[in-house]
Amino acid sequence: MSRHGSVRTAAVFSLISICVLNARAQANTRGFISIDCGSPPSSGYVDVVTWLPYVSDAEFVDAGVSHNISAEHADMIDLKLPRLYNDLRSFPTGARNCYTVRPLTPGTKYLVRATFLHGNYDGLGPGGLAVFDLHLGVNFWQTVNVSSVSDTFQAEIITVVPDDYVQVCLVGKKGLGTPFISGLELRPLPDTLYTVVANASMSMAVHGRYNLGPDDENLIVRYPSDPHDRVWKVLANLRSWNPTNTTGTVRYVAGDQFEVPSAVMQTAATVDDGFSLRFYWDAYESNKELDYFAVLHMAELRRLNSSEARICEVYLNNGLWYSKPFSPEFRYSSSMFGMVTGSVEYSFRIEPTANSTLPPLLNALEIYVMVPTAERATHGGDVSAVMAIKAKYEIKRNWMGDPCCPKIYLWDGVGCNYAISSAPRITSLNLSSNGLVGDITTLLSNLTALQNLDLSHNNLSGNIPEFLAQLPSLAVLDLTGNKFNGSVPESLLKRSREGAFSLSTYADLSVRPLNGRISKEDNGDAVSMQFDNRQFSYKELKTITNSFEKSIGKGGFGVVYLGYLEDGTPVAVKTRSESSSQGVNEFLAEALHLIRVHHRNLVNLVGHCKDGQHSALVYEYMSEGTLQEKLRGLEYLHKACTPPLIHRDVKTANILLNGSNLEAKIADFGLSKAFNNDLQSHVSTRVVGTPGYLDPEYALLP
Ligand SMILES: *[C@@H]1O[C@H](CO)[C@@H](O)[C@H](O)[C@H]1NC(C)=O
Ligand SMILES: *[C@@H]1O[C@H](CO)[C@@H](O)[C@H](O)[C@H]1NC(C)=O
Ligand SMILES: *[C@@H]1O[C@H](CO)[C@@H](O)[C@H](O)[C@H]1NC(C)=O
Ligand SMILES: *[C@@H]1O[C@H](CO)[C@@H](O)[C@H](O)[C@H]1NC(C)=O
Ligand SMILES: *[C@@H]1O[C@H](CO)[C@@H](O)[C@H](O)[C@H]1NC(C)=O
Ligand SMILES: *[C@@H]1O[C@H](CO)[C@@H](O)[C@H](O)[C@H]1NC(C)=O
Ligand SMILES: *[C@@H]1O[C@H](CO)[C@@H](O)[C@H](O)[C@H]1NC(C)=O
Ligand SMILES: *[C@@H]1O[C@H](CO)[C@@H](O)[C@H](O)[C@H]1NC(C)=O
Ligand SMILES: *[C@@H]1O[C@H](CO)[C@@H](O)[C@H](O)[C@H]1NC(C)=O
Ligand SMILES: *[C@@H]1O[C@H](CO)[C@@H](O)[C@H](O)[C@H]1NC(C)=O
Ligand SMILES: *[C@@H]1O[C@H](CO)[C@@H](O)[C@H](O)[C@H]1NC(C)=O
Repeated sequence: MSRHGSVRTAAVFSLISICVLNARAQANTRGFISIDCGSPPSSGYVDVVTWLPYVSDAEFVDAGVSHNISAEHADMIDLKLPRLYNDLRSFPTGARNCYTVRPLTPGTKYLVRATFLHGNYDGLGPGGLAVFDLHLGVNFWQTVNVSSVSDTFQAEIITVVPDDYVQVCLVGKKGLGTPFISGLELRPLPDTLYTVVANASMSMAVHGRYNLGPDDENLIVRYPSDPHDRVWKVLANLRSWNPTNTTGTVRYVAGDQFEVPSAVMQTAATVDDGFSLRFYWDAYESNKELDYFAVLHMAELRRLNSSEARICEVYLNNGLWYSKPFSPEFRYSSSMFGMVTGSVEYSFRIEPTANSTLPPLLNALEIYVMVPTAERATHGGDVSAVMAIKAKYEIKRNWMGDPCCPKIYLWDGVGCNYAISSAPRITSLNLSSNGLVGDITTLLSNLTALQNLDLSHNNLSGNIPEFLAQLPSLAVLDLTGNKFNGSVPESLLKRSREGAFSLSTYADLSVRPLNGRISKEDNGDAVSMQFDNRQFSYKELKTITNSFEKSIGKGGFGVVYLGYLEDGTPVAVKTRSESSSQGVNEFLAEALHLIRVHHRNLVNLVGHCKDGQHSALVYEYMSEGTLQEKLRGLEYLHKACTPPLIHRDVKTANILLNGSNLEAKIADFGLSKAFNNDLQSHVSTRVVGTPGYLDPEYALLP
């Protein structure tokens, strides 16, 4: 963890800088993404230190609390530090909280920087300090130890982003304070830079990136001096080090993989004659197994005459690190670099050779920790689909970071399978009782490994879509307790019938149980529905039916009228006429039965009316009318055929349906019997056919 106290460069406001502001705002076209964490939603500004445009973090994260740093720390910000340090976002709840930054170009190398300034935002002083982990996607990046309220901290990693987004997650540690973040910056790097980071499986985090030799120990070099916006801090001059500098530009050759800016290379540290230039770092602070990558940048800053020579050799832990004696070139960058591993302390020594007339020199130094980032994230298609589903239904929960990985942060309601050879896949999604509204999103069809989908007990509406039947692995689908309109697509019913999956849907179709409570039985077929059957007043019925305007049928009970509930649901209002053969008792019996009995193939009762002498039952409205209207075949058999035919086995098994319009046809005339009107008594001897399914006209024969 590197840090710096403050920045010297004060912002100078002038009319001229306003013009500059407009020009520099274009910097965004470089692909820089600059996020000011904790700033108000949809706020944006151009920072007067870097001249880069910054945006609020609101659209990149959906958890956490915004805070401003305390007034006394804000004073320090005013002129010295980038404005992003003014505020921050803290995450008092949730084990893992993530930023999702998109869109990025997959396969692009990025420098990702997270910045932190506590600034006593919580008024707890040092008591509010925190230690927490940063994750890059599903991989551990580094531990952040914010050990001062007034210092800024930065974590920076160079990584190849495999997807069109990257996630940066803050993972709290028990008892070690509340994670927070001040800023998040992404800078694309050309592939030709830092070629040691070749693909997404290995990244490297900055352990130190130092500028050597400037007088001002607080100097920060970054954008625009460094077009890649790396942050170069000063490695404090040791007493034995002699600073040297030039005003001439220090260049690098084409193809240089570090492109160190001239502003950094123009200053250097040397030592007194006869001394070596040394630096070291301890590797004990974290895991001893860590591998480092070190880069030493050198450029001669003075034109040497023919009798002068600066020749050096570089040693690491007493062994020669770079095999040959080396002379820096005049105003051209040279870099020595390599992996350094296997030790608890790394001690570098730059020695002059015997024939060198000048001491060694070092202009800049970079030390990185190699960070394995090979752990596989969830299948990219699944991730983008589930994130879009999250956005569509505005799901909060703990849905942050990768849905499946690491396993301990598996999203609520999400199930995954973890194959060894391929990326984890989402296999189950349980959004039961999540208050979902709207239709069933087609995004679900992108979760192609889904086996188990539970959308029950939400307020989903619209049609049940066909595409669900196309999900290749779907085995369980629960849609109960919603407000769907229309029928279950035949393709779904077919797969369900074929045993391809268990389907629970029906209780919700064409009926809205008012104040209802539905419990599903094991066989997934019948439901028992208990509801406080709605009581209608006669006045309400009048409103619903527009003063009993449209009659849609007549039964023994009375006339049936079409009506519409407040929410537009069509209903059939079956009134009991005074002349009805059905008495009030039968009426009550029917109501009681209907309250108790529910099945997808039984008409559902919405409510009843018992208001003075008025009584009525309110049913769901079946828009397609009666089966009789669809089944003219019997009438034909009985009346139009000569001689007439009695089917004698009219049962559902003998009524075949065709096509999506469910055209009904009577089949199986095997038991039909021709009968002579004149010989009615002759056929009454023995009743054949399935009891309970006899043609009513047949059964009525004397
Ligand atoms: C931070 O301060 C700004 C004004 O300087 C104010 O608009 C904003 O609401 C504050 N934010 C919070 C979280 O208090
Ligand atoms: C954090 O840093 C402080 C100061 O460097 C140190 O005392 C403390 O032990 C560190 N905490 C952890 C958990 O590493
Ligand atoms: C990724 O890069 C490393 C070198 O850093 C290399 O060893 C490895 O084979 C590469 N992996 C792929 C999948 O290209
Ligand atoms: C360069 O060196 C001169 C003389 O020592 C010093 O005054 C000046 O501040 C130095 N410049 C930088 C950028 O360190
Ligand atoms: C080379 O430069 C050094 C230091 O500036 C000077 O002492 C020496 O006389 C010069 N030698 C020649 C041959 O110019
Ligand atoms: C300086 O000495 C090294 C061996 O230490 C040798 O390889 C190199 O050629 C010498 N350079 C000059 C300019 O004499
Ligand atoms: C869903 O899949 C389609 C077709 O493969 C693709 O075009 C679309 O981008 C995907 N949507 C999401 C949000 O992943
Ligand atoms: C979905 O979650 C609910 C609880 O939230 C649970 O009752 C239900 O059984 C789950 N569904 C499946 C298919 O596991
Ligand atoms: C559906 O929405 C209504 C009104 O917004 C609400 O009262 C009810 O609780 C919701 N039902 C479910 C299952 O979310
Ligand atoms: C049901 O859907 C049909 C057609 O999609 C539409 O005309 C009708 O208004 C819907 N009914 C309700 C109650 O939403
Ligand atoms: C069944 O329906 C299909 C399509 O609606 C139609 O082409 C076919 O003729 C029908 N079959 C019979 C026996 O009516």
